Amino acid sequence: MSQAIRYTTYGDADVLQLTEVPLPGPGSGQVRIVVKAVGVNALDWKIRKGFLSEGKPLPGPAGTGIELAGVIDAVGNKVTRWQVGQAVFGRSATGGAAATHDLADADEIFGKPEWLSFEQAAALPVAVETAYRTLHELGVREGQTLLVHAAAGGVGLIATQLARAWGATVIGTASETNHAFLREIGAIPVTYGEGLTDRVRSAAPQGIDAVLDGSGRGVLPDSIALTGDPEKILTIADPTAAEHGIRFSGRPGPTGPALEAVLSLIEQGKIQMPIDSLYPLQKAADAHRHSENGHLQGKIVLSIEP
Ligand SMILES: NC(=O)c1ccc[n+]([C@@H]2O[C@H](COP(=O)([O-])OP(=O)(O)OC[C@H]3O[C@@H](n4cnc5c(N)ncnc54)[C@H](OP(=O)(O)O)[C@@H]3O)[C@@H](O)[C@H]2O)c1
Repeated sequence: MSQAIRYTTYGDADVLQLTEVPLPGPGSGQVRIVVKAVGVNALDWKIRKGFLSEGKPLPGPAGTGIELAGVIDAVGNKVTRWQVGQAVFGRSATGGAAATHDLADADEIFGKPEWLSFEQAAALPVAVETAYRTLHELGVREGQTLLVHAAAGGVGLIATQLARAWGATVIGTASETNHAFLREIGAIPVTYGEGLTDRVRSAAPQGIDAVLDGSGRGVLPDSIALTGDPEKILTIADPTAAEHGIRFSGRPGPTGPALEAVLSLIEQGKIQMPIDSLYPLQKAADAHRHSENGHLQGKIVLSIEP
């Protein structure tokens, strides 16, 4: 048997329960992982609340958690690349990574370098893939000025530092408690809310070439005012995007090339991903509440004891 966080109806974090479940068996092309750490994402509580269910009830017990790090303990048919005992990280195949054991597709995991802890590794796949994909979709390049909304969140931090590494200037919106850290990683912090456009204009008199909205909190009209062109804006979090003629990027690309580009920068100390907080598996509901509250600096991670 294994233990997993499960819920049987959409709702508040209280629906999450630690439950005994049968040990999952890896299908063809999959591996089973003894989970050591799980990254907590805003998507986790959005799914748990039923925001993505189109009004339909939950069809059966569901797990939570889309990214993980751990050690392979079983290998399915047709998997030649991985062996039992290897430390890996990547995306969950089940969406139920918050568990003692989970499954992953063999081509959606990556060898964990020794210099990276399980907790740090579990914090990376979703944020790194999303930041890498969206900066490419925006065509961010050296010499440009990028505005990142929610720059201190998981995606925002990677996007900010990757754009800096590529030679762009980055203006990042965040709460004032995160401004010192944003300065440390080379961004120009700006407080969000009333008066945002004036503050951004004085921080970037040269103008804004591109906007990545990771906040989803009504910043698209201001972003159009700042760029003068909806084409220069991309949101990953605002469902009203189409009403403004703005692109919504929601389809994950392959995680491999993104991790390859970012891991070496992490190793060189050019990109950091702070762990905002760690929770044990049985406190997954608290971790969801914290994520839902939204004021993070980096990632919330579940650390799973054997
Ligand atoms: N479409 C996709 O492919 C995709 C992929 C990954 C994530 N997402 C979505 O993208 C969003 C960001 O994800 P994440 O993992 O980076 O989230 P996160 O780590 O939970 O970060 C949330 C950030 O939002 C900031 N924030 C709160 N209120 C704000 C406001 N009014 N204006 C600007 N920022 C505000 C907070 O900053 P302060 O602490 O500074 O207040 C916090 O750092 C989420 O909605 C998530 O669901 C989409």
